Amino acid sequence: MNQRNNRRLVLFPLPLQGHINPMLQLAQILHDRGFSITILHTDLNSPDPSSHPHFAFRSIGDGLGQSEASTSDILRLITLLDARCAAPFEERLREEMSSRDAPVTCLIADALFGFARDVAERAGVRRMVLRTVGATALRVIAGLRLLRERGYLPIEESRLEDPVPEFPPLRVKDLPRIKTREPELLDRILNDMIEGIKDSSGLILNTFEDLEQPALSLLRQEDPIAVFAIGPLHKCGPSSSGSLLAEDRSCISWLDKQAPNSVVYVSFGSIASVNESEFSEIALGLADSQQPFLWVVRPGSVSGSELLENLPGCFLEALQERGKIVKWAPQHEVLAHRAVGAFWTHNGWNSILESISEGVPMICTPCFADQNANARFVSDVWRVGVHLNNGLERRKIAEAIRKLLVEKEGEEVRERAAQFKEKANSCLMQGGSSFQSLDALANHILSFEL
Ligand code: UDX
Repeated sequence: MNQRNNRRLVLFPLPLQGHINPMLQLAQILHDRGFSITILHTDLNSPDPSSHPHFAFRSIGDGLGQSEASTSDILRLITLLDARCAAPFEERLREEMSSRDAPVTCLIADALFGFARDVAERAGVRRMVLRTVGATALRVIAGLRLLRERGYLPIEESRLEDPVPEFPPLRVKDLPRIKTREPELLDRILNDMIEGIKDSSGLILNTFEDLEQPALSLLRQEDPIAVFAIGPLHKCGPSSSGSLLAEDRSCISWLDKQAPNSVVYVSFGSIASVNESEFSEIALGLADSQQPFLWVVRPGSVSGSELLENLPGCFLEALQERGKIVKWAPQHEVLAHRAVGAFWTHNGWNSILESISEGVPMICTPCFADQNANARFVSDVWRVGVHLNNGLERRKIAEAIRKLLVEKEGEEVRERAAQFKEKANSCLMQGGSSFQSLDALANHILSFEL
């Protein structure tokens, strides 16, 4: 570990799993570089301090409870956070700045906390931004208003296959899907995010050059701010869990008993949900594939009944013979396990990076936001996965699983995935792009006046 440098960083994650994980990973990396870390957090989805004994955790005391935390409408949730968190956040930040601990050198806030910009300015503290999606998705999301003006949005069924030349190779169906009846609200949130990035002291991205070089270089041309691509963050240091749900580790001993590269791991992240008939179709597809499967059925992830007893008998037999269901898995460890040969994913950005860094090919079923664009890059640009097109259907599910795990066609995908694993790991080594970018980030922060 580097020497302590008597500088303190205050980090402020958005209280959603896919945002908390990269922020805590970033905190760990900067702590390893000598900075002291204070995590300011909401009461909602507050992280577990015992998993990170070197950080100071302070609730901003917003009183936000789990009952208010519906993720079925993310925009509403962000608006609620905006309304309820700005004042207590400012109060807490000022307290931190006047405390006798090491001086606060910089605030690093999630890009979706639009209010952090004004608060930091009033409090007179430098502010950097962590955006938890990839560089490509960030550019597409930032271009949503333009895409609406040019008639691509709202998405029309008849135009789904049309190319979007502004963001090749995306097609209309790959554009971000963000459910809202209030496009003005979406515009305001995105505008706050973009302005907040533009006049920040730097943008931190969980990605790496070999994966997203073209998008990174366009970002750098478009906005004259420092961009630090330092991912994959979860591989940068010793991993400690930021999971909000208890990880069921029994799946690791189950995986130990499976043949190498034989298992399909199925997980749709922390927000996406399926309906009852999709749930049943997934079960049938897994049964038909004849392959071992590890399936994460997160509580609340089925709208309707998630009772396993209601699933078809042939699936229950397959489950007994060669399947395992858990409510939440230690995903990094699962993907790194030698038995896992494919990841059926919703294409959340963290899941993609975690899969790529272990060389696990993906079956893509994107659901919303950046996931559609991410999936297109997985299947058509990096070519480390296959798309499951046009809904969930048991025959197609079984075909996709067998294609990646068993058939010759999957071999090339597996080879490319293995090459990306190499790249994801070598960018973190001395001289690698993320290693250098991390050095640059640490020096950048150290250059801020106290
Ligand atoms: C969403 C977006 O889709 C994503 O692109 C954006 O950056 C953040 O919000 P989410 O649905 O949470 O994310 O997916 P993802 O980004 O993949 O994050 C899920 C995290 O939960 C991953 O780090 C994954 O390792 C973890 N996880 C998931 C577990 O630890 N166990 C599980 O069983 C499932």
